[in-house]
Amino acid sequence: MQRSNNGALLLLSAFFVVFFFHSFFKARADYIPPAKLDGFPYGNRPLKWDTILIEAFYDPVCPDSRDSWPPLKQALRYYGSSVSLVVHLLPLPYHDNAFVASRALHIVNDLYPSATFPLLEWFFKYQEKFYGAQTRNLSRASIIDDIVKSATKVVGRSYYNDIKVGFNNSKTDLETRVSFKYAASRGVYGTPFFYVNGFLLADTGSSIDFNGWRKALDPLVGTKS
Ligand SMILES: *[C@@H]1O[C@H](CO)[C@@H](O)[C@H](O)[C@H]1NC(C)=O
Ligand SMILES: *[C@@H]1O[C@H](CO)[C@@H](O)[C@H](O)[C@H]1NC(C)=O
Repeated sequence: MQRSNNGALLLLSAFFVVFFFHSFFKARADYIPPAKLDGFPYGNRPLKWDTILIEAFYDPVCPDSRDSWPPLKQALRYYGSSVSLVVHLLPLPYHDNAFVASRALHIVNDLYPSATFPLLEWFFKYQEKFYGAQTRNLSRASIIDDIVKSATKVVGRSYYNDIKVGFNNSKTDLETRVSFKYAASRGVYGTPFFYVNGFLLADTGSSIDFNGWRKALDPLVGTKS
């Protein structure tokens, strides 16, 4: 009798331990792994196994990310359907407003995916007004307000409320955290970082220009055909 009581107690304790850990880690389990792959596919190109995949890790308020975008875009035009691109966001902790800017991109991507890249380009163009020194005296609320208004200009008037509410929705906060965690899990510690078919593009750093892309991709495109 004593023995089976102990057994029941042990089972009960085990149950509570499992229950406790389950509850404790549930918050994390809710979004890692995420239900949907991280990243914004560029253009109307379907991602296919037989295209060369570039993954760019960008911070919307990073000057090096901004500078690397035109040559990458040129390369995408040049190679057409044999190369596709997915952009991942890495909001860097030492870039003020990187997280809210990245969150704006997730909000807009959820509402209207084809406006994602126009908004990214808008951030690249006007990112200086979100730098630390320029926003030192501004409240977080006024910066978000500015971003909502600006994103509305890019996406369209009718989206104003949805974008505004998007900043109040924990889903978009989680999506932005997932982007950060995804980049970290890939070993990305700065922006821009480029991966080609899953491998880090070596020795290019932020300075890769169109010729750099030609050098990296010509041999791969050649071996495909
Ligand atoms: C921020 O406020 C300080 C103190 O009032 C002022 O000296 C500084 O110029 C302001 N900076 C900006 C970017 O407005
Ligand atoms: C944001 O969410 C809070 C709590 O859910 C709510 O009280 C508030 O009205 C919301 N604000 C906006 C702008 O949607």
